[in-house]
Amino acid sequence: MAPSRRDFIRTTSVGLAAGLTIPSAFRMEKIAGANNRIRVAVIGVNGRGSSLAGTFARQKDTEISYICDVDEHAMGKCIDSVKKITGIAPKGVRDFRTILDDKNLDAVVIAMPDHWHAPATILACKAGKHVYVEKPCSHNPAEGELMIRAAAKYKRLVQMGTQRRSWDILTQGMNEMKAGAIGRVYFAKGWYTNGRKSIGYGKEVPVPSWLDYELWQGPAPRRPYRDNLIHYNWHWFWNWGTGEALNNGTHEIDLIRWGLGEDYALRVNSAGGRYQYKDDWETPDTQVITFDFPGGASAMWEGRSCNRQPVEGRDRGVIFYGDQGSMSTGDNRYTLYDQQGKMVKDVKSDKPVEGRNTVSPGEELDAVHVQNFLQALRGNEKLNAPIETGFKSVLLCQLGNIAQRAGHTLHIDKANGHILNDKDAQALWSREYEKGWEPSV
Ligand SMILES: NC(=O)c1ccc[n+]([C@@H]2O[C@H](COP(=O)([O-])OP(=O)(O)OC[C@H]3O[C@@H](n4cnc5c(N)ncnc54)[C@H](O)[C@@H]3O)[C@@H](O)[C@H]2O)c1
Repeated sequence: MAPSRRDFIRTTSVGLAAGLTIPSAFRMEKIAGANNRIRVAVIGVNGRGSSLAGTFARQKDTEISYICDVDEHAMGKCIDSVKKITGIAPKGVRDFRTILDDKNLDAVVIAMPDHWHAPATILACKAGKHVYVEKPCSHNPAEGELMIRAAAKYKRLVQMGTQRRSWDILTQGMNEMKAGAIGRVYFAKGWYTNGRKSIGYGKEVPVPSWLDYELWQGPAPRRPYRDNLIHYNWHWFWNWGTGEALNNGTHEIDLIRWGLGEDYALRVNSAGGRYQYKDDWETPDTQVITFDFPGGASAMWEGRSCNRQPVEGRDRGVIFYGDQGSMSTGDNRYTLYDQQGKMVKDVKSDKPVEGRNTVSPGEELDAVHVQNFLQALRGNEKLNAPIETGFKSVLLCQLGNIAQRAGHTLHIDKANGHILNDKDAQALWSREYEKGWEPSV
């Protein structure tokens, strides 16, 4: 029997993810044309999801079949904006779980709040869908491990939204550094700065009629609705969010791990707190996380949510230090310095990057990562940020927050990233779930 379009997408992409070559019987030309279309649903479209819906809608042979949100206003606005791009209005759906048995749906794009990322990814994999999941891939490390198991068990491709992994000039810089441009690299520093305002003290008020707050909370233990939580501010509450360390730190800490070529840490520590304002915000607004790695290198990440003073002339970025010089990067640019601090090379892109933009640092650059995902589904490329890679970077950020909350240094098993001999910290490896919502593979 001839392979179906979905069989093609499945067989070839999973083969490539596993490092296999495309079987000659499944060459691309054979599925070119209408059957080559990839159908996606975008879930969670107030901010990032709306931007991603536009980016996916602009890609060749890609169709946005569904826009899902529990906020009917956000859903409606996003449907209209996709229609403006493609001329076709996707179907609006409140509960994404109801679309997972649509056999024509190939992939889901998850841009819901962090507490939903892993549970939704696992449900989608089980239903046979490939997944583009926003960073951080999970709310806690145990969920990240479940996601890896789900992707493997159901043979699905899961790409994390660390778009910098697909940026060309940044990749070129990493390759040049790995080829010895600054010698032996022994330290990396990453940072993120912004000028976020206070979120005040919220009041318990009735849930607005346009919002399904029960489904918004989903797997998270129930908390009363407050008027300073939705949208976006959930980032700063541990029940749903993960703080700046994962909200933005994921990007730079991922670059640090990429540049240093490390998988897991040996030791992780964190200092900081909610210092700028007194309000409901629970996670640190000021944080320094430090890492020692088994390969003989160290790193630190500095987050300042409420003080915009740049570091090294950049509002966010990474600098690597080696025994023959340094390399600063983070946006789609890299600059090499010698040991005396003299610039020796500066490679820039003309594509704009807005590091503090809360929706997208640059849609043209997002598109490159999205295209990598779509090409991987078609069997033409390997994912640039597969879940195994995303998990390791997100784990470093999560360990930073665990060290912060436990109040002491964590010692880590370099073989698998697990916390050693530390009951208090190990208790934060997973989370409590609302009864009946526990994710399982
Ligand atoms: N890669 C990047 O550069 C980048 C940039 C911005 C945000 N993000 C990530 O994207 C995610 C979303 O961030 P945001 O700023 O857009 O948040 P947001 O609060 O503005 O939007 C989240 C949306 O998800 C919806 N939602 C919640 N539960 C849902 C459910 N069960 N089903 C469907 N929709 C649901 C909400 O109603 C809301 O519309 C975060 O995890 C964030 O870290 C990534």
